[in-house]
Order: sequence, then C-alpha cells, then structure tokens
Amino acid sequence: MKNKLILDGKQTANGEVRISGAKNAGLVIMAASIMAEGETVLDNVPRIRDVDVMLDILTEMGVVCRWNEDQSLSICPPTGNIDKPTPYELSKKLRASNLFLGALMGRQGEAAVSLPGGCDIGTRPMDLHIKGISALGAEVSLEQGNIYATAKQLQGARIYLDFPSVGATENIMMTACRVPGQTFIENAAKEPEIVDLANFLNTMGGRVRGAGTDIIKIEGVPELKAGRYAIIPDRIEAGTYMVAAAISGGTVLLENIIPTHLHPIIAKLQETGAHIEERESSLLVEGSADIRPADIKTLPYPGFPTDMQSQMLALLCRADGTSVVVENVFENRFQIVDEFKRMGAQIKVKGMSAIVQGVPQLNGSTVKATDLRAGAALILMALAAEGRTVIEEANYIFRGYEDIVNKFAGLGVTLTAE
Ligand code: EPZ
Repeated sequence: MKNKLILDGKQTANGEVRISGAKNAGLVIMAASIMAEGETVLDNVPRIRDVDVMLDILTEMGVVCRWNEDQSLSICPPTGNIDKPTPYELSKKLRASNLFLGALMGRQGEAAVSLPGGCDIGTRPMDLHIKGISALGAEVSLEQGNIYATAKQLQGARIYLDFPSVGATENIMMTACRVPGQTFIENAAKEPEIVDLANFLNTMGGRVRGAGTDIIKIEGVPELKAGRYAIIPDRIEAGTYMVAAAISGGTVLLENIIPTHLHPIIAKLQETGAHIEERESSLLVEGSADIRPADIKTLPYPGFPTDMQSQMLALLCRADGTSVVVENVFENRFQIVDEFKRMGAQIKVKGMSAIVQGVPQLNGSTVKATDLRAGAALILMALAAEGRTVIEEANYIFRGYEDIVNKFAGLGVTLTAE
C-alpha cells in the first residue's frame, strides 16, 4: 500500500474538482443500515480507506456488502442477532467503529463493540455515549477492551449532553429509534452529518425530528425498512480544496457542494482575502496574492469546524501578519505544528492556542502526517513551498480523501504517490 506523497512546489491549483460524499455521514449511515431488514442501497459513498475498513467490519458481522455497477453500495444485514463483538484489529483503525454501539442497540437491543481507534487528536472518551445509552435503560459494561450493552426493556428518556458530541448524538439517535416512547437529546450536536443520519433513519420509517437544532426528538417505531439514500457532499473535503486555491493563489471551481454547510469556512477564507462566489451547488474560489491574517476559534457546528483547523493553520503560515488559532474541540490537535516548522513556519503553541507569524516563504521538507486532516494540510503547505516535500504516513490522507492524486491532477497539481 502506498504510504508516501511527493509534491515539488511551488504549484498553483487551477481548475474544477467534484466533491465526493461525506466520510462522516457515510460511515455512520453504513453502520445504521444494519438496523433495517432488507437491502439498503447507498449512493455517493466515497471510496476511501475508512469506508473499506467499515465494510470489513460489516462483513465480519455477517452483513453482505456489495459495490454495484452504478457505484452505489448495497448493505444486507443477516436475519437474527449479530452476536460477535466487532473485531479489535479492524475497530482500532478508526473512530467510527464506535457507531456500531448505537446501530446494534437500535437493531437488537444489545451490542458488543470493541473500543474504537482513530486519529490521535485527544483522549476521545466514550462517557457521553455510555451515559446516553444507559439513560435509555441499557446496562453497559467495559470488559477486555469491549463495550457490552444489554437491555431488558429500553424506554424513551430525556438526555442532556454535557458536550454536543457528534458520535454520542449519533449513537443515542440510533439506539432510540425503536425504543418505545419519546426520547429527547438536549445539547445535541448540530453538524450536517447529524441531519443526514436523521434523514436516513426517517427514510427507513424512523421518527426523528429536530436534527440540526439543540434538541432532537425521537419517537420509537416497531421496525425499520431498508431503502435507498444518497449521502451529502463532504464539507471538509470541500474546505480542503478551497484552501488549496487560497494558499496557491489559484482559481478552483468546486462542484457538488451544499453552500450552507461551508458558510463558516467561506467567511474565514474571505477574511484572509480570498474571493468566493456561491452558486446553487458549486462554489468558485479565487486565491489572493496577498493572504491576510485571521483569528480562528474552532467550535461545534455551526462554528468553525475543528476538522478544518490544520488546513487553515497552513494558510495562515503564509499570511502577512500574525494570527491566533484556538482549538476548542480536541485537546491535542496541534501535533502537526512541528512538521509545519520543518517547512519554515513560525508558530508558537500555548495550551489550546497557536500563534502564527506569517512568513514570506516556506521550503519543502520531508514531513509526516500525524492525522487525517493534518496530512491534507501538509499537501497545502507543499503547494506554497519552494522545492520538494515528501509526506510520510500518507495512509492517513487516503483514509478520508477519495482519489486525491487525480483530483489534484485535475487542478494542474502533480502529486505523486509512492
Ligand atoms: C466526529 O468525531 C468526527 N468523526 C471527527 O472527524 C470530528 O472531528 C468530530 O466529530 C468533531 O466534529 C466521525 O464522525 C467519524 P465528538 P467524534 O464526540 O464523534 C469529547 C475527521 O477528521 N467527547 O464530537 O469522535 C471528545 O473528547 C474526524 O473526519 C467526550 O468528552 O467527536 C472531543 O474533545 C476527526 N466524551 C469532543 O467531545 C464523549 O463521550 C468532540 O468529540 C465523546 C466525546
């Protein structure tokens, strides 16, 4: 498997790029598909390594999965209970494996799920997931690295999330779908991927209301039916290509996007001097020769997304002034700064803040990806750097960016995978 990306800077991103389906909507909806009897067909699922791993886990669980001629994905769960715990060797590869907790609870009222893995950007506990599922009547225990949840009788409940956790909101939504009575999730996550999951559950006959707001109401239904559903476009992949235009002074047209999902990113990029034209399902981004500094605070949606923090940090390394970036969602998401410094960036990290002094020039170097989004940010740095950049641990990038080498080639950028 290729694990290195090479880019000889400077290169300018110019052209059109079609945005793929959202990784963080596709992964949870693939898990949720096991809650319905029959064949679920999903459109716009991205061909990325995280999806491959989720398919491996589903197959281990006895679920029949198939890519169809029309590029849709079919998921057919078995009849009867799924008893085997999700396999540790696969679950440790991604955070989304923890979503089988809610999917299995929603399917059969019991679950055995290996503790997840995923990007090392913080401790990433599961306490809110467990609090929510326990409130619905489940007995949850942790044994040998597995979470076991069983329930004699699940009952609707009112659950308050101390933090609007995306995964915890998703696991509670799925668990509550077939629980008698009404469940309310307060201080729920409001990300577009939460709305996509709610829409998917409702196409299966679920009764989920209020997704995208602070309070989600779920009324239990006796059963869910398989159907066909198209995943929303990936707002973080889109944001990454928007920054590619901004940092390299190029002009990029992004096709297949939902503009409202990108508003926090559009606003920030305009502040740094990029010119952006919104169209119905596309966006034109023109990078400016002069990149202005900007301060950023990452927050749960609709705040500025933490998954775009590393990419914006790269852009601010080239601004003509000082910027302050505050990471409020994860406690350890500045690891990439050391790699940026190898390319000439001037950044000081103090606790949850990074102070970025823009520099007139970046230089290519051998660097390594420390997580999925940080890896993508290294490509953006390499675009603006003089000389060759070799990105190691590039497998992180392939986890979440579909066909990235060809997409950059379509923008006139030569990126070589080795
Ligand atoms: C999802 O992770 C995404 N992953 C992440 O995207 C994204 O960064 C994150 O949401 C925030 O938007 C998937 O959807 C597969 P959280 P998740 O639970 O659900 C704390 C990417 O690059 N927390 O909202 O794990 C947690 O420690 C990835 O695509 C608890 O304290 O995020 C963190 O500080 C990276 N207890 C904060 O909440 C809990 O029980 C946000 O976590 C759960 C979370």
